[in-house]
Amino acid sequence: ALPQTVKIVEVGPRDGLQNEKTVVPTEAKINLINMLSESGLPVIEATSFVSPKWVPQMADQVEVMKGIIKKPGVSYPVLTPNLKGFQAAVSATHCCVPLKAGASEVAIFGAASELFSKKNINCSVEESLQRFEEVMKAAKEAAVPVRGYVSCVVGCPYEGQVAPEKVAHVAKRLYSMGCYEISLGDTIGVGTPGSMTKMLEAVTKEVPVSALAVHCHDTYGQALANILIALQMGISVVDSSVAGLGGCPYAQGASGNVATEDVVYMLHGLGIQTGVDLSKLMEAGAFICRTINRKTSSKLFVITEFG
Ligand code: HMG
Ligand code: MG
Repeated sequence: ALPQTVKIVEVGPRDGLQNEKTVVPTEAKINLINMLSESGLPVIEATSFVSPKWVPQMADQVEVMKGIIKKPGVSYPVLTPNLKGFQAAVSATHCCVPLKAGASEVAIFGAASELFSKKNINCSVEESLQRFEEVMKAAKEAAVPVRGYVSCVVGCPYEGQVAPEKVAHVAKRLYSMGCYEISLGDTIGVGTPGSMTKMLEAVTKEVPVSALAVHCHDTYGQALANILIALQMGISVVDSSVAGLGGCPYAQGASGNVATEDVVYMLHGLGIQTGVDLSKLMEAGAFICRTINRKTSSKLFVITEFG
């Protein structure tokens, strides 16, 4: 049976904008996040505390975290690859800034593929898990919830197909160390309902389905079908990106996440509640596309504009 409600994790401001070639003004990021909050989304991944040499687009992470209006009940997680990133995220770096300016939720991000791990975070899968243990320990002390990502869950840009058992192994490790939710990333959007089913069958043997999320990029146009498979298997958390923004800087050719507008449209069509106001969401999508002079990847936008 399908879930009655689905939690949408909006990743556009992070996963979407991290990949933009031209610098997106901090003010535009802040406006986008505020508009997304107003649309009723429960979780908005705001930025990353990663190296500005590796991902220059996220170099304004502190300004973004301090500039957004934190709507009560909405969570604004940030990516933290290591202890350095975690400490910067939680304290927001300036000594005089109250702690509430900092992040109150973080995400660690690993991969099921060795070569992707190396390219993305410059260490092996095993080394990354050891770094994550350090982050987890600090997060527990600070009572900060941690989400865990596994990238390349069906395919890797460097290694090709990825075995479902590898995904299950990394997902289980992240769950065992205390991540409250594991997001399974089809980083390059090569999954099909066939490969998703096999992967999810393996992962759900190791991690409770209530702690799983899917994170589908839409390179080959399979994302909505893959999400439907996940819903049918009992998963009720879906990551997506407004206007289908984005890609991954360390996965060439990968397109953005499935558009949040299209996911919401499908979920509402299935009678599943999301709490999201679709027209406000579409305004946020139109705003960011206008501001960064980019075409939307949401199918919905076009039809509603002219239909
Ligand atoms: P490294 O070079 O191995 O790190 O990078 P290091 O510990 O050797 O330090 C080297 C330098 O980086 C030092 O500075 C550190 O201070 C600095 P220097 O002395 O040269 O001036 N440094 C940092 N600076 C800021 N924040 C930090 C930090 N850590 C070290 N946290 C590192 C390792 C992980 C930092 C690097 O590889 C990195 O930043 N990678 C970027 C990864 C990234 O953001 N990828 C995109 C997000 S993941 C994704 O999109 C997939 C996902 O959407 C799911 C899916 O689709 O599958 C989540
Ligand atoms: Mg992603």
